[in-house]
Amino acid sequence: MALRLGDEAPNFTAETTEGTINFHEWLGGGWGILFSHPEDYTPVCTTELGTVAKITPEFKFKKRGVKVIAISVDPMDSHKGWINDINETQKTRMNYPIIADPDKKVATLYDMIHPNALDNMTVRSVFIIGPDKKVKLTLTYPASCGRNFDELLRVIDSLQLTSKFKVATPANWKDGEDCIITPAVNDAEAKTLFPKGFKTVKPYLRYTPQPNK
Ligand code: BEZ
Repeated sequence: MALRLGDEAPNFTAETTEGTINFHEWLGGGWGILFSHPEDYTPVCTTELGTVAKITPEFKFKKRGVKVIAISVDPMDSHKGWINDINETQKTRMNYPIIADPDKKVATLYDMIHPNALDNMTVRSVFIIGPDKKVKLTLTYPASCGRNFDELLRVIDSLQLTSKFKVATPANWKDGEDCIITPAVNDAEAKTLFPKGFKTVKPYLRYTPQPNK
């Protein structure tokens, strides 16, 4: 069955380009992104993995504390050879592991194979996993469309913010912009929780400056 938001991210042990991992141990107590790509030595996938290598310092070091791991059903030898091409063509150095899943164990666990769209390969799935090991966000893209990884940074900012404060983030929100006070918070409570104040557009639509800025 497909994984849903709030479900526990299934644990697994797998071979990766950085050694064998137990997924939950590898995540530790932090945030993680597991993303699949269809096939090694393919053009869109090459740009995707190189792009993630370039922004991994953003995930890892710039306060976000997110670990990233890729997966496809190709074997380890293929991943290891392909990394040279990623580094060369994308002008980067791979700095996160790729899971080799030739028996499709992890791909099946995470429902990453969609046979009516792409035969025997993983589609472009993304799972963002919280420190509680629960699935916080999923995305599924077809093989023909490379993902926007800046959007993943944006949703990480929203997920991390809304896990700490009783706010939600409006359409196209970016880190630093005003947030929406969640409807469960009444005005009296909002005055205490949001000392910077809030603007009421409608009783159900109240904006407050981002609380942790
Ligand atoms: C690609 O990464 O370019 C790709 C992979 C599988 C199918 C189609 C495109």
